[in-house]
Amino acid sequence: MGAVPPLPDATPVVVLVSGSGTNLQALIDASDDPAYGVRIVAVGADRDGIPALDRAERAGIETFVLRVADHPSRAAWDAALAERVAAASPELVVLAGFMKLTGAAFLARFGGRTLNSHPALSPSFPGMNAPRDALAHGVKITGATLFVVDEGVDTGPIVAQVAVPVLDDDTVDSLHDRIKSSERGMLVEWVGRLARDGHSIDGRRVVTPPNRRNL
Ligand code: GAR
Repeated sequence: MGAVPPLPDATPVVVLVSGSGTNLQALIDASDDPAYGVRIVAVGADRDGIPALDRAERAGIETFVLRVADHPSRAAWDAALAERVAAASPELVVLAGFMKLTGAAFLARFGGRTLNSHPALSPSFPGMNAPRDALAHGVKITGATLFVVDEGVDTGPIVAQVAVPVLDDDTVDSLHDRIKSSERGMLVEWVGRLARDGHSIDGRRVVTPPNRRNL
C-alpha cells in the first residue's frame, strides 16, 4: 500500500541538515501518517553530497543547497538562507543536525518558530562537539535537547529534553549513537505536537497546549 498523503492542513515544515540525516528520516517516516500533522515542504543543506539530501530526494521532497563559500559573507549567506526557506512558506523550521548558526536575517523571519536539536542536556555542553565534551567531562548522564533557536549557541528556550546514560566503555561514537536513538523519538514527538497544537514562548519557557492527540 502506498503512503497516504498528508492532510492539506498539515503544518508546512522546512528541515535544514548537514550530515547523515537520521533525524530527518525519522521526521519523514512520521510524516507518512496524515494524523501526524506535518508536511515537509523542503529540505535545505549547507553542503552537497550528504546522505541527508539523498534521504529527502528518495522521499520526493524538494531540496536546496546554499554553501557559505558561495556567498560574499556569512551575513549574505544567512540572508540568502532566509529567502530560500521563506520561498517554501514553512510555519516551522527544524534544524536537524544543521552544523551552522543561523544569524540575524534568518531569525528576523523565523525567530520563535525555528527548532534545533542538540545532543546534550542544555545548558551543558553547547557547541559542535557535545558528545565528546560530555564524555571528557565524565558526566554519567547526558542526553538531547530540543529548543527554540535564539541568537546564542544552543541557548534558546527548551521545548523538551531526554536523558541518556553514559557507559564506562563509551566512545564518542557509541555515546552519540545512543543519544541519537533517544533524540529521534523526542524530535518526532515534539515537532508533531508543536505542528498540531502550536506553542508560545513565555520568557524562557516554551508553553504547549495539552496534548490533544497523543500519537
Ligand atoms: C544529531 O545528534 C544532532 O543533535 C546533532 O547532529 C546530529 C545529526 O545527526 N546536531 C548538532 O550537534 C548541532 N550542533 P543526523 O544527521 O543523523 O540527524
